[in-house]
Amino acid sequence: MIYVKKKRKNSLSFNTDFSLHTDFDTASIPSHVAIIMDGNGRWAKKRMLNRVQGHRKGAETVRTIVECCREIGISILTLYAFSTENWQRPKMEVAALMSLLAKFLKSEQKNMLDNNIRLNAIGQIERLPEHVRQALHEAMTLTKNNEGMLFNLALSYGGRAEIVRMVRDVAIKAKEGRIDPDSITYEVVSDHLYTKGMPDPDLLVRTSGEMRISNFLLCQIAYTEIFVTDTLWPDFSKEEFLRILQNYQHRERRFGSTNN
Ligand code: FPP
Repeated sequence: MIYVKKKRKNSLSFNTDFSLHTDFDTASIPSHVAIIMDGNGRWAKKRMLNRVQGHRKGAETVRTIVECCREIGISILTLYAFSTENWQRPKMEVAALMSLLAKFLKSEQKNMLDNNIRLNAIGQIERLPEHVRQALHEAMTLTKNNEGMLFNLALSYGGRAEIVRMVRDVAIKAKEGRIDPDSITYEVVSDHLYTKGMPDPDLLVRTSGEMRISNFLLCQIAYTEIFVTDTLWPDFSKEEFLRILQNYQHRERRFGSTNN
């Protein structure tokens, strides 16, 4: 896998052919993009392969899209890699996903360092097997000073569980007199989410056509622009991603207000 060649930190040469997208405005890139990566199983089934082979191919798409986001200057990319509900999948599939993750985290260390990418994880990290936690810890520690892009992996993540955790934390602080219940604002709530300190996603992309949110970033996507594509995640490409960004650039975001 070749990421963009690095000359100095923050100095990148573009692999992406922007000339294919004449209407693409490099000055108006969303700061935070979140993606629900769906369709690995269907991709595999269509080819008479097993689901794990679909996930393996999906991991390659992760590399492509991380690279693309870094190239075009997206500040935060959040990928839904494993949900709280995914624990209910067959043991073998869960184990395969976990080893794929650990392998990815190890093999991507150098690329993340070379490309000034900081890795972060959101979700119930404590539920992950020790070898994945170890690989995560290593990659996060190694990349902690990188400022080119924040790459958030949502692992054992669920929006409802995140809300429950936030309510508990705030309630404990209120009980201990560290928070005045009357002064709880959305900022206080937001400061107790996994995404503390990050802007909400500007754009949420879901692959493989299902029209649902699947418990992803429930609080954070209140005003996020949503784009659903029928493409299965393993087939998702840089070119399609750029077309989606172009579509985003033509949307009018009013955040509940009017445009006049
Ligand atoms: C949904 O497809 C995808 C997942 C549950 C896992 C996503 C994992 C990857 C993309 C690969 C590993 C990730 C990293 C970061 C290396 P599905 O299995 O639900 O597909 P289906 O709906 O077609 O069955």
